[in-house]
Amino acid sequence: MPDARVALVTTRPRPEINTDHDMPLLLAALNETGVAAESAEWDDPAVDWAGFDLVLIRSTWDYTWRTEAFLEWVERCSRLTTLLNPPPVVRWSSDKFYLSRLTEAHVPAVPTRYLAPGAAVEAAAVLPSDHEYVIKPAVGAGARYAARYRAGDRDTAVRHIGHMHAEGITAMVQPYMARIETGGERALVFFGGSFLHAIRKKAVLGADVPFDQRKVAHPGLEPWVPTAREREVAESALAVVPHSGELFYARVDLVDDDEGRPVVMELELIEPNLFLSVQPASLPVVTGAIAARARDARRLPGQPVAEHI
Ligand SMILES: Nc1ncnc2c1ncn2[C@@H]1O[C@H](COP(=O)(O)OP(=O)(O)OP(=O)(O)O)[C@@H](O)[C@H]1O
Ligand SMILES: [Mg+2]
Repeated sequence: MPDARVALVTTRPRPEINTDHDMPLLLAALNETGVAAESAEWDDPAVDWAGFDLVLIRSTWDYTWRTEAFLEWVERCSRLTTLLNPPPVVRWSSDKFYLSRLTEAHVPAVPTRYLAPGAAVEAAAVLPSDHEYVIKPAVGAGARYAARYRAGDRDTAVRHIGHMHAEGITAMVQPYMARIETGGERALVFFGGSFLHAIRKKAVLGADVPFDQRKVAHPGLEPWVPTAREREVAESALAVVPHSGELFYARVDLVDDDEGRPVVMELELIEPNLFLSVQPASLPVVTGAIAARARDARRLPGQPVAEHI
């Protein structure tokens, strides 16, 4: 008889959804520890969430275009059992407006302007004319709807913004962080409250690649040993997150600015890819932390997380 039941939450497989390569590794290793782990789709009405001691969000990669329904499920599920990360963290990090919160807290982050649908702003007026820039959605994953533009290149960019606005999505405008082409993007993963490992990946956005073309989200993955400064920036970013003490897992993605200083590109606090196939030695650490948390949740069920947001 297993001592705890864990759901690893994913989404229905569809052609536009990437494969979760961590999932089979986690399921096999967890079941070996004596915990009964299974994958479950967040929008499957047949799942009895209350039957799990711990529900861990893993690869719900369709939440970016079904955000409201997803956040409703998060609230509903967390009333029935222990859901991690805690709902206030999920809600806060679902909108990349958090980058402005990091900047306010003096954490270095990619400078970002937000263009909300219907906002009385002439999009063309804020598009940079002296450097390359990126437009992408404020609620996004898998580089969906992200594209790079040359200085002064406006027509396609304005159409791109209009396309997102028509879908009710806020657009973000950022400088193109050109050093990503030499230094790559570094992802620092934290699990169970501690630094776990890091990886580096190559640049995703090619020049002249249309915004609606599907991108390879994680090209050229390799293990990475973060510098002291990268650790410091990542930890200072996580300290800004509401309920940061209750983060069960987190990923902080960093790129270099023009002076070579690491800045935050993204916080992944909902469904971070853990890249376990690139860092296989981390698998027992991750499954050990999940099993321990599930056993705690079984002993002390129904501890709601206070909401301060
Ligand atoms: N300002 C930028 N400068 C350079 N490259 C960028 C910039 N913004 C995004 N990119 C590239 O586009 C990719 C996707 O952007 P970002 O990580 O912000 O969105 P995402 O869709 O949440 O990504 P994912 O979920 O795949 O990590 C990044 O990994 C990076 O390669
Ligand atoms: Mg990213």
